[in-house]
Amino acid sequence: MEHQSISHLLRLRYGDSDSLPHVAWSETLELLLKHRSVRAYTPDPLPVGTLEAMVAAAQSASSSSNLQVWSVVAVEEHARKARLAHLAGNQAHITDCPLFLVWLADLARLARVAAQRDIPYAGLDYTEMFILSVVDATLAAQNAVVAAEALGLGVVYIGGIRNHPLDVAAELQLPPRVFPLFGLCVGVPNDARPADIKPRLPQDAVVHRETYAADQQDAAVERYNQMMTPFYRDQQMRVNGDWAQHSARRVAGPQSLSGRDTIREALRQLGFDLR
Ligand SMILES: Cc1cc2nc3c(=O)[nH]c(=O)nc-3n(C[C@H](O)[C@H](O)[C@H](O)COP(=O)(O)O)c2cc1C
Repeated sequence: MEHQSISHLLRLRYGDSDSLPHVAWSETLELLLKHRSVRAYTPDPLPVGTLEAMVAAAQSASSSSNLQVWSVVAVEEHARKARLAHLAGNQAHITDCPLFLVWLADLARLARVAAQRDIPYAGLDYTEMFILSVVDATLAAQNAVVAAEALGLGVVYIGGIRNHPLDVAAELQLPPRVFPLFGLCVGVPNDARPADIKPRLPQDAVVHRETYAADQQDAAVERYNQMMTPFYRDQQMRVNGDWAQHSARRVAGPQSLSGRDTIREALRQLGFDLR
């Protein structure tokens, strides 16, 4: 594959990137900066060993105290992908992709290990342990994403599986203390429907030097709005208003959470009675 310069990729990510210092080229940096979610796949199966390579990359991520409190379910059966697609808001790419991964916060394994050794495990009921498992699972998943992209594959995360977490848990036969965090479609990108690199907020909006500085964010958000409006138009994305308006509306109230306003109760029902 043809290499792209870092400064070109920075321009695609930030628009005018003149204010950023020169960065040396590295293959990994190029790969990371080239990321774009892919929602259209060819019908080709994945190369043999793809899942194993992705999981090895995932397990190579750091893990809090090496507790490794995450798991992943690999779904390839068409009918099961179709049911999960339906639960996730009818997202066709879930059915279309050859491999759908569901990443799990998994405190069940540690509970089992402790119980088998007659060691109490009341510590698992604290919010800290849930956060720990979410962090571990997310770091693992992102490593798997980078591995897949390094192998020339395309992926998209699917938060839609949290629209109906109890149904997803039943579909995947998850035991108590296991929560489905997000899905991941994996497939061979369909070059007939290429995805573009999506710009991100200027670094001023997300980087604070020494202490948090809220004021510097306003100008950065404004610059981003001006960049995203033409991007939405070029990509024919149906976005109502600019990025700030669109994003603010996404948190306007419980009705804007796609049914996920009930997630605390779902967590409780799935064995996370957090304190
Ligand atoms: C945790 C998570 C959940 C997501 N859920 C969905 C989803 O359900 N459907 C979808 O099409 N994209 C989903 N996305 C993809 C985001 O929309 C995408 O990453 C974002 O718009 C930035 O675009 P890019 O990944 O192409 O840079 C999700 C991303 C993340 C990180």
